[in-house]
Amino acid sequence: MSNHATQIPAAAAAATGPKMRVERLDLYYGAFQALRDVSMPFARNHITALIGPSGCGKSTLLRVLNRMNDLIPGVLVQGLVELDGCDIYAPDTDVCELRTRVGMVFQRPNPFPLSVRDNILFGLRVAGVRNRGRLDETLERSLRSAWLWENLKDRLNDPAIDLPLDQQQRLCIARLLAVSPEVILMDEPCSALDPIATAKIEELMIGLKRDYTIVIVTHNMQQAARISDFTGYMLLGDMVEFGPTTKVFTDPGDVRTQDYISGRYG
Ligand SMILES: Nc1ncnc2c1ncn2[C@@H]1O[C@H](COP(=O)(O)OP(=O)(O)O)[C@@H](O)[C@H]1O
Ligand SMILES: [Mg+2]
Repeated sequence: MSNHATQIPAAAAAATGPKMRVERLDLYYGAFQALRDVSMPFARNHITALIGPSGCGKSTLLRVLNRMNDLIPGVLVQGLVELDGCDIYAPDTDVCELRTRVGMVFQRPNPFPLSVRDNILFGLRVAGVRNRGRLDETLERSLRSAWLWENLKDRLNDPAIDLPLDQQQRLCIARLLAVSPEVILMDEPCSALDPIATAKIEELMIGLKRDYTIVIVTHNMQQAARISDFTGYMLLGDMVEFGPTTKVFTDPGDVRTQDYISGRYG
């Protein structure tokens, strides 16, 4: 008998369990504790929203998921953070590879001062890809996935910073897709955009979850309600409530969540 019998259940578990999860997570900036005992899953091929008042730790938690906090001096992370069942804070983790698998989109679009093409292909070129066919294929596929191909196919040499803001943000999403991430972290990706541009990004996100696991920080509760499958409500570093978005918004289990979603939080 081969050892397949023992391998298959483990592989199946990795493919069906949450894509990521944190367990008993504490985070300190020096003496200040910004996250307290946070535990939650991030469901595969779903959108998870993190909501809560400014300063409650949403961005901090998001940055834990691809170790962006490592770049801040004096940060201490305790607890478990898993990607496909593997501890991403284990000493042998390749942090560059991790940040390719778990990519981030920021509040303000941050295209490089390069052409559209060179923005999208930046990551592949850094990785040493020279094959013209592969670069062209990735360019088109990434722009199509971000619904930019029709807009930009004749403007591939234009500077990306000349694009309208919502196209810049979708370009940043396309740049991420070009390196084939598995998880996309978004920190208030629409806060610099008008309602029409916001709607485009939201629609795009809903389309992307078929292929990616998405975590979005938003201070816009309507946005969380519209697009997310699961919601975590945070307050002063605590995960007050986590559950299916419909439940959190219509039948919250904690009076503090109720106060926040009804606008009574002061
Ligand atoms: N680099 C940092 N150094 C020290 N404290 C920080 C740092 N970044 C965030 N904080 C503090 O951690 C808490 C959570 O911040 P943050 O995660 O940015 O909240 P949110 O994204 O929910 O607004 C806040 O009290 C903030 O002042
Ligand atoms: Mg923030």
